[in-house]
Amino acid sequence: MTDHPTVLLLGATGRTGRLVLTQLLDRDVAVRAIVRSIARVPQEALGRPGLALVEADLLAMSAEELQEQVRGCDAVISCLGHPINLKGIYGDPRELVTQAIERVCGAVAALRPSEPIRLVLMSSVSVLRPGAVDARRSALERGVLAVIRALVPPAKDNQNAADVLCDKIGPSDPFVEWAIVRPDTLRDGEVSTYALHEGLMASLARSDDTSMANVAAFMCELVTDSAVWASWKSRLPVIVNATPA
Ligand SMILES: NC(=O)c1ccc[n+]([C@@H]2O[C@H](COP(=O)([O-])OP(=O)(O)OC[C@H]3O[C@@H](n4cnc5c(N)ncnc54)[C@H](OP(=O)(O)O)[C@@H]3O)[C@@H](O)[C@H]2O)c1
Repeated sequence: MTDHPTVLLLGATGRTGRLVLTQLLDRDVAVRAIVRSIARVPQEALGRPGLALVEADLLAMSAEELQEQVRGCDAVISCLGHPINLKGIYGDPRELVTQAIERVCGAVAALRPSEPIRLVLMSSVSVLRPGAVDARRSALERGVLAVIRALVPPAKDNQNAADVLCDKIGPSDPFVEWAIVRPDTLRDGEVSTYALHEGLMASLARSDDTSMANVAAFMCELVTDSAVWASWKSRLPVIVNATPA
């Protein structure tokens, strides 16, 4: 894939998505963003060369409409998330992220690209890899997470979306390659040095910090740098701010 891809960005109006948007444009990457309201797109991005905005309700688009937006894109980044308020947490669509990922994968499969597209999903350290390989999560923590997923729909949605990629798409799909980025507690701040880990490093009780700017920077690297992509595709890297020596 070219190191100057066209990227379909979902969630470009969110706290992290807006940083991904501006960082991609700063790298001269062409961005197609599907947003619910253009009024919520960051001012500094509006009118910049390389940005195409599509105002639409992602989950209400027909399969054909979504295919038209996916067509010609080399990568998809999802920074979708549920608003942190009562309606956002307990209202519809409870399966926002899962449905978006399933629909995008379906659109890519229907288009049958000659090279697989890269799909980068912003997720969370509350999401576990399949097969109990996140050994740092104790039985107690796994129990707590199961209760949280039962009670808090967005937590279940994040796990289900990751499971779609890990289990349904898998590592050898001809059309979709994927990476699931797992930040810890999201913080404001500039891009700084960050650390990437294969598995979880902190406990639920003592979380690490991850600046949203660093999440955005890593997601941009994934879609623009083939060596970075080769290192992390089909994996669920945990990203945290590097602690000063
Ligand atoms: N909070 C944390 O500490 C933390 C830590 C790790 C991971 N995460 C995960 O990281 C992800 C991104 O978090 P964030 O805080 O950057 O997100 P955010 O600011 O809440 O942004 C969410 C984005 O999703 C869009 N969206 C929400 N509902 C939608 C719908 N029904 N249809 C279409 N788009 C919709 C929003 O669009 P509108 O502007 O139109 O509403 C917005 O662009 C989330 O999945 C979250 O679970 C969070």
